[in-house]
Amino acid sequence: MERILVTGGAGYIGTILVPELLKLGHKVTIYDNFMFGAAPLLGFSANPNLTIIEGDVRDAKAVKEAVKGHDWIVHLAAIVGYPACAADPVRANTVNVEGTRNVLNAMEKGQRLLYASTGSTYGKVLGIATEETPINPLTLYGRNKRDCEEMIQATDHEFTLFRFATVFGSSPRMRLDLLINDFTYQAVHNKQIVIFEGHFRRTFLHSMDAAAIYPFAMSHWDQMNGGTFNVGDETMNYTKLEAAQEISKKLDYYLHEADFGSDPDKRDYEVDYSKLKKLGYQAKINLSDGIDELIKIISVLKIHNPLRNA
Ligand SMILES: NC(=O)c1ccc[n+]([C@@H]2O[C@H](COP(=O)([O-])OP(=O)(O)OC[C@H]3O[C@@H](n4cnc5c(N)ncnc54)[C@H](O)[C@@H]3O)[C@@H](O)[C@H]2O)c1
Repeated sequence: MERILVTGGAGYIGTILVPELLKLGHKVTIYDNFMFGAAPLLGFSANPNLTIIEGDVRDAKAVKEAVKGHDWIVHLAAIVGYPACAADPVRANTVNVEGTRNVLNAMEKGQRLLYASTGSTYGKVLGIATEETPINPLTLYGRNKRDCEEMIQATDHEFTLFRFATVFGSSPRMRLDLLINDFTYQAVHNKQIVIFEGHFRRTFLHSMDAAAIYPFAMSHWDQMNGGTFNVGDETMNYTKLEAAQEISKKLDYYLHEADFGSDPDKRDYEVDYSKLKKLGYQAKINLSDGIDELIKIISVLKIHNPLRNA
């Protein structure tokens, strides 16, 4: 049984990951400021191995206290995505960068950090991005994540950096700003998707598979300690247009590729995942199955708030 602190444990990935860790018999502490509420915890909050702390990663003293006594620190807490970061750059910098610094300063020898970075740090890449490809973040969000990667690499702590693909699929803390979730929502409810720059390449990973990398890394620590890993699957490298066409196979809606205007999100990258695959990690849920799941839930989901990060 491991003792695991999950900052941002009330979020989109966290609320899938935490029940999985509890099922494996671990003791888990969620540290979160609950900016999207605590209701997503209700499905597993009764578990006696779960501790809940309401706190802010910007509060160095509280972070120091929370980190104590844990074997693993899963650091998810962040202002996530380029629109949310652009909406309040000071908040983004303080939460994403200073928050991570607080976590690093709080850690003691022997504690291990699993850090959620993003493939967004690659920006616009000719060819296929491997972990060796120089990163070139195009947004404040990406730059925040790059700064954290560099800060973590400069410490003596044990760590692994995950550069996640764009996650899709359902979660107790649902996000509809993620590309596949957003497209499916538009197709189901508005019966249309308008795409700008449909040739831009993007890469996807189901939320269950994103959560699965954590127990995988814990059981492959000798090979993963100190490393940076792209987390995703080559079969889920799609252009935006191809991703929308996957939804067309299942739903009747109007797909319009706009020939004017542009996407403010300039990311255009294809990613190689062989480094992680060689260790045995395999994503299990493909885009087609994930879209089926999303259509099922999004069709009945009553949206009381925008469920967006910005
Ligand atoms: N979802 C993706 O596609 C994706 C892709 C790449 C990387 N990531 C990374 O994974 C992590 C989790 O992302 P997510 O999709 O679950 O996002 P999310 O926005 O759903 O979760 C973030 C969590 O952090 C918490 N939080 C925010 N500010 C805080 C603060 N000041 N103090 C304490 N807690 C705070 C929020 O309440 C929320 O529960 C993030 O670090 C994100 O950058 C996500």
